[in-house]
Amino acid sequence: MSAVPPLSSRPRSRLRRLAAPFVSPPVFDFWARRLHPTWTWERPLARVIGHAPAAADAVTLTLRPNRHWTGALPGQHVNLGAEIDGVRTNRSYSLDAPVGADGRITVTVKRVAGGRMSAHLLDPARLGDVLDIGPGFGDLVLPARAEGAWLFLAAGSGITPLMALVRQLAAQDMPVPATLLYWARTRAELCFARELRALAARHAGFDVRFVLTGETPEAADEATGRIDASLLEALVPDLARRQVHACGPGGFVAAAQALLDGRVPLLRSEAFTPPPRPPVDDTGTVAVRLARSGRELRLPRGVALLDALEAEGLKPRSACRMGICNTCACGKSSGTARDLRTGAASGEPATALKLCVSSAATDLVLDL
Ligand SMILES: Cc1cc2nc3c(=O)[nH]c(=O)nc-3n(C[C@H](O)[C@H](O)[C@H](O)COP(=O)(O)OP(=O)(O)OC[C@H]3O[C@@H](n4cnc5c(N)ncnc54)[C@H](O)[C@@H]3O)c2cc1C
Ligand code: FES
Repeated sequence: MSAVPPLSSRPRSRLRRLAAPFVSPPVFDFWARRLHPTWTWERPLARVIGHAPAAADAVTLTLRPNRHWTGALPGQHVNLGAEIDGVRTNRSYSLDAPVGADGRITVTVKRVAGGRMSAHLLDPARLGDVLDIGPGFGDLVLPARAEGAWLFLAAGSGITPLMALVRQLAAQDMPVPATLLYWARTRAELCFARELRALAARHAGFDVRFVLTGETPEAADEATGRIDASLLEALVPDLARRQVHACGPGGFVAAAQALLDGRVPLLRSEAFTPPPRPPVDDTGTVAVRLARSGRELRLPRGVALLDALEAEGLKPRSACRMGICNTCACGKSSGTARDLRTGAASGEPATALKLCVSSAATDLVLDL
């Protein structure tokens, strides 16, 4: 994993060792952050040092993480946290490029109508802000030595982790054939278009097609239409030999899986919004006991436990809300929970029940 280069670690490690018996991390952070906004005992933080438009209603933020951030690979995501109107809010964002040699990272954020975090991050006033940052997670990574031919399928904000992979390959002089199909509603919503076209012009092995769903194609590298078998076969004649990474909204990713699963040598996909969920006929409410706080609540069956707990005014830790990042995972010592992604129910005790994608099927005891 690409790690942040050590930043003058020695003197501060010695200082930490000497100070450890006398100072608690929060007290250290309080005073250290008066000297420098990202100096902390161990808490990973990142400062926003760049804020540039990327497309209509999208910005690229350049972040400088402190030395406690453990890094992320191209294709992975991080959870970013900010205090918005007095409420700590965490969301997941993908690195859109490999970690820079100086430890900088970039993320590109698209506005979601009515969204809290995207509106916050799009505001140019964020320049200079300090955000919480979590470790990299996610599976859309390339092998250390990529082999064979690749196909990247991106829709909307799903371009960001795949752009990181394209840039990773470009930095290695495109060692393998790769095609990127990038869906957006309009040309104005395309991020990185100029750079992608320049890469395609420079590297014979790299091909990009912009698939517009709300405008007529004009350029030779533009196409139109929603994802389906005939479009994929027309744009990628050697589809059957491609290793595929797909990323975008849940419906797009579900369609890519249905079209390609079992037809290509490798298919990895990640969704930014939940796919359509299998119907569950759990109705009524159950008793949920929170073992650590001693609270007992009546929560609806069939509703994600995270949503149900938040509706009761609780604030369990969360970020991706998609069952990917593990932030919301907590123990379940008894009762049956249902995985809303698959519809499967399990009565086994669990050490890491993902509250964002699990509902209560019976009375539960949670380690909260
Ligand atoms: C692994 C992962 C990686 C991600 N990477 C990126 C990225 O690189 N760039 C990026 O811009 N976003 C990315 N996202 C989406 C991002 O985490 C947030 O969900 C998004 O910015 C909206 O957050 P918000 O606080 O503004 O909206 P919220 O306040 O959470 O939601 C507002 C409303 O919009 C709906 N909604 C939430 N997210 C979306 C969405 N993506 N599309 C449509 N409707 C939505 C909600 O259901 C709600 O109704 C990623 C998500 C995941 C799970
Ligand atoms: S919030 Fe990421 S797994 Fe639940």
